Amino acid sequence: MAFRIPFLKRKLKTEINTELSLENLPKHVAIIMDGNGRWAKQRGLPRAAGHKEGMTTIKKIVSKAVELNLEALTLYAFSTENWKRPKTEVEYIMKLPSQFLDTYLQELVDNNVQVRTIGDFSKLPEHTQKAVQTSIDRTASNTGLILNFALNYGSRAEMLDALKGIAHDVEAKRIAIDDINEELINQKLYTHFLNDPDLLIRTSGEVRLSNFLLWQVAYSEFYFTDVYWPDFDENEFVKALIVYQSRKRRYGGI
Ligand code: FPP
Repeated sequence: MAFRIPFLKRKLKTEINTELSLENLPKHVAIIMDGNGRWAKQRGLPRAAGHKEGMTTIKKIVSKAVELNLEALTLYAFSTENWKRPKTEVEYIMKLPSQFLDTYLQELVDNNVQVRTIGDFSKLPEHTQKAVQTSIDRTASNTGLILNFALNYGSRAEMLDALKGIAHDVEAKRIAIDDINEELINQKLYTHFLNDPDLLIRTSGEVRLSNFLLWQVAYSEFYFTDVYWPDFDENEFVKALIVYQSRKRRYGGI
């Protein structure tokens, strides 16, 4: 409704003019990194250029997350649906983890970052698996930020896997039907090593979840921005965190 817009704008401005507090930071931030293709198109560049620049953004956001001592950052890098893209684009995206990790792995090690993944890792090209596995192994004893890449990830596939795992446990009489509860489902999801995201960010102006962490975002705060992922820098990230801090999380209470 038109008469609400000035109020919303004023509220957003006030929120953003506030400084970031080091208390009440989200522990786990999940990001749908969107808009690489449009960013490139806007500049008359091939889509690959957008993905390459998107990698630079990842470095900026990881550095900020380390500085702020966040517990976990989950980045949606490749969905189960992204295989539908042209072969050349998929091949390019699959080379990015090794490019990223070749130049950045030592910094991740030095910054106590733990690299993890969610998704069906086994279907990725071997060279991609190898690069990611090396970074997982080399950061396994780190205790700082969990940098979790969703690679060949789809939330419905994840839920299906969890359901099948539970059904097998029931069939084998390892558990009874009455043992099935939310905690058990959490343990069976790919994200069993993480708390649920406190904040979910999506860049590029799209306002949908695209099969990302559907179970886990039940009580997350959502932040949508028109900024394309390659332009989403530390300041944009801090802006999202400030907006998060202005929200009242009630978890269904009052
Ligand atoms: C969405 O933009 C972006 C992707 C599907 C790929 C994102 C991948 C990276 C940024 C690199 C991953 C790197 C590592 C280290 C795992 P889009 O192509 O959908 O943009 P569009 O909606 O504007 O076309």
